Amino acid sequence: MAKLLETVDLVTNFYTYEGVVKALNKVSLVVDHGSTFGLVGESGCGKSVTVRSIMRIVQEPGRIEGGKVIVYLDERDKQAGIDLLQQSETYMESLRGDRISMIFQEPNAALNPTLSIGDQVSESFLFHQKKEMCTKIYEDLCAPECQLFYPIKKIQQAVYGMASNNPYAVSLKIMNKVPILKRWQKRLKKEAKKRAIDIIDKLGIPNPAQVVEQYPHNLSGGMKQRIVIAIALACNPVLLIADEATSNLDVTIQAQILELLRRLKEEVISSILLITHDLGVVAETCDRVGVMYAGNLCEVADVKELFGNPLHPYTRALLDAVPKFSVEKELKSIEGNVPNLVTPPPGCRFHPRCPRVMGVCPQTFPEMKEVKKDHMVACYLY
Ligand SMILES: Nc1ncnc2c1ncn2[C@@H]1O[C@H](COP(=O)(O)OP(=O)(O)OP(=O)(O)O)[C@@H](O)[C@H]1O
Ligand code: SF4
Ligand SMILES: [Mg+2]
Repeated sequence: MAKLLETVDLVTNFYTYEGVVKALNKVSLVVDHGSTFGLVGESGCGKSVTVRSIMRIVQEPGRIEGGKVIVYLDERDKQAGIDLLQQSETYMESLRGDRISMIFQEPNAALNPTLSIGDQVSESFLFHQKKEMCTKIYEDLCAPECQLFYPIKKIQQAVYGMASNNPYAVSLKIMNKVPILKRWQKRLKKEAKKRAIDIIDKLGIPNPAQVVEQYPHNLSGGMKQRIVIAIALACNPVLLIADEATSNLDVTIQAQILELLRRLKEEVISSILLITHDLGVVAETCDRVGVMYAGNLCEVADVKELFGNPLHPYTRALLDAVPKFSVEKELKSIEGNVPNLVTPPPGCRFHPRCPRVMGVCPQTFPEMKEVKKDHMVACYLY
């Protein structure tokens, strides 16, 4: 499969009063076109910082200090790729929420409580699909069924015709400024609302025409998360990053949202980068998995291979710590504590907790190696 996103030796630090938090220590991963990549690991291991670094939205006092984030979005850059860390902020703004969009754990934080659902989803279409919508309106105005008074029809055709080539055309701006012409903008808003209703319907929300008139507080948590997904999809992203997007939902709703994401991946989005600490979710949803520990990626493999043949001692410990329906198998916790990333252990960061630690482990950081086809591990045992 062709690569869609690749991080190479990504390093991100936080400059806090307690010292430098070494949150990401050379994280290298690849997400292919058409795949779902799951990123797992204990709380604080750097999952969110990884995706925030990819999107270049690391919060203060964080800084991306090294590495590359290469995307292969279009045919023309499929060969070479574009390093996002070298692009301007303007480029990143046009990319975020467009070719790559992101949904977070807390839908309430993503929705504006004072705006109706329809306005919020429409706004996303108005921002990302203005050109397509102007083309559609122009075609409707040119259709023989259009009964508008001829001179008005001609002027509107001219305005929307121009806007379909350039959505930032002066004609649209003039239309927005002149009060008598302003009502023609209604066509654009109506088209955006129609698309909002369509997408809400596609996401399996009953009575979409009523839902668009409601406000976030009228909806349940699962419904709100679907609306957030609708907003993220309005721009036809190639990659959807979901950071613990289902963690706050009860299990049945969680299952529905995951099923929805799976369907969307097949039909609309090319790839998903799913962050979760739930290995059950990974087993059901992902094609490939990356396991993180204390700012390092320690193992990456296809989902079946990782669950069937875990190699890194941390991955093994993580899988042993998952409750199973078996009386014989005792639930094991991982000995020791998650390290402080201001003073992380030298060498392999897992060595103070590793049951198989050797002399070399505290000395040098183990590089990631491909030990079997498509199965990578960073551990001196292999
Ligand atoms: N704004 C910040 N200031 C200082 N340190 C931060 C900040 N954000 C993250 N960190 C540190 O970076 C490390 C990785 O955090 P991150 O949020 O990526 O963890 P996570 O794997 O997403 O955890 P969780 O599963 O709890 O969401 C943590 O040690 C955390 O303390
Ligand atoms: S490198 Fe050493 S300490 Fe680290 S996981 Fe492997 S055996 Fe354990
Ligand atoms: Mg997180």
